[in-house]
Amino acid sequence: MIATIRPARKLEGEITLPGDKSISHRALILGAIASGDSHARGLSAGVDVKSTAACLRDLGVDVGGTDISGRGMRGLRPSAKPLDCGNSGTTMRLLAGLLAAQDFETELTGDDSLSRRPMDRVVEPLRRMQARASWPPLKVGGQATLEGIEYTAPVPSAQVKSAILLAGLYAAGDTAVVEPVKTRDHTEVMLGAMGADVKIDGTRVAVGRTERLEPIDIAVPGDFSAAAFWLVAGGLVETSDIRLLAVGVNPTRTAFAGLLTSLGFRVGRARPRLEAGEAVVDLEVTPAGDLRPVRVEAGMAAEMIDELPVLAVAATQIAGTSVISGAGELRVKESDRLAAMEAGLSAMGADIVTQEDGWVINGPRRLEGAHVESAGDHRVAMALAIAALIADGKTEIEDAECVEISYPNFFDHLEYLC
Ligand code: S3P
Repeated sequence: MIATIRPARKLEGEITLPGDKSISHRALILGAIASGDSHARGLSAGVDVKSTAACLRDLGVDVGGTDISGRGMRGLRPSAKPLDCGNSGTTMRLLAGLLAAQDFETELTGDDSLSRRPMDRVVEPLRRMQARASWPPLKVGGQATLEGIEYTAPVPSAQVKSAILLAGLYAAGDTAVVEPVKTRDHTEVMLGAMGADVKIDGTRVAVGRTERLEPIDIAVPGDFSAAAFWLVAGGLVETSDIRLLAVGVNPTRTAFAGLLTSLGFRVGRARPRLEAGEAVVDLEVTPAGDLRPVRVEAGMAAEMIDELPVLAVAATQIAGTSVISGAGELRVKESDRLAAMEAGLSAMGADIVTQEDGWVINGPRRLEGAHVESAGDHRVAMALAIAALIADGKTEIEDAECVEISYPNFFDHLEYLC
């Protein structure tokens, strides 16, 4: 599908974002091994979360609508076929950790993009735990007596951390992960709420062997990483007044909002509340004031990794040189996001140069509508759509249907707000 986007003169209205993708995956996976039925309202309707649900069904778990029939820690059944994780790195890595601890072997596959992404980062620590694990293709499990380890992760990754913690639920002794930077903590928060023995100390998270998890009942908050597109759009379009309802603002997810505010964007918070241990607010977005150039340095990128494509769009509108570095991980996401954003924004007239681990962007530049490629990557498609709202003339985005991965009604929301 080609999405055609025209410049916006105003962005106004209230929207409810899709359920948080990270929390949705975890609710399904942890619900599947709980002792009893869990309920998760507002799960992400994106294709990635559907991939997790389908894999769990292949493992004998009854998942329907908001309900997950937990089969207990040892109740998963071998799948008759390789598990298809689609485009979803979270599905593949989290399930690899869980399934490495089962007494049967499972093969996990995915689409072309996922097949190119690095899985040695989970295989290596799982093997240290004495699990059977190999890649490529990714095969795990068949030897269920695991040993706890203390793992110092070379790269900050919530997916890797979560995989190790899930295997750690089944391992002898404690299993700990120490990260260079604290990444999103939804796995440990949810495990704690379900009664697991979780200890969090700064960037170190440990879990003990667990015989039983209590079921959960949660309302999944709106996805902050989806909100990020509107935080930038609302700041850059001259007349805007956007209210984003019930957005999850777990502090391990919202560094991007803090950065935007420090640049001169205006993001207000209203009606603060808690949902199953996760902080939730309504976000209010109005046009930005004078903007300062962006500086993202090593150690900052991990906390806003999914928001960096749309940050690049913001940087094209800021006077001066913006430098985003320490973001080499963007090369191994659903696409090479450094290259894909450089290609798209350059075609629209931006001054953006890709470095080894980031971009240098000189602004402000008036963007021109162009024919651009999403690279089949949902966050690239949505970031370029935001660029299109502030460009002159019409922009066409190729393969725009990939927004379905995390935000199926993105283009409906865009049309409604304009
Ligand atoms: C996620 C972790 C991040 C993020 C992804 C979701 C998660 O990936 O980019 O969209 O739910 O744990 P990494 O762990 O590879 O950084």
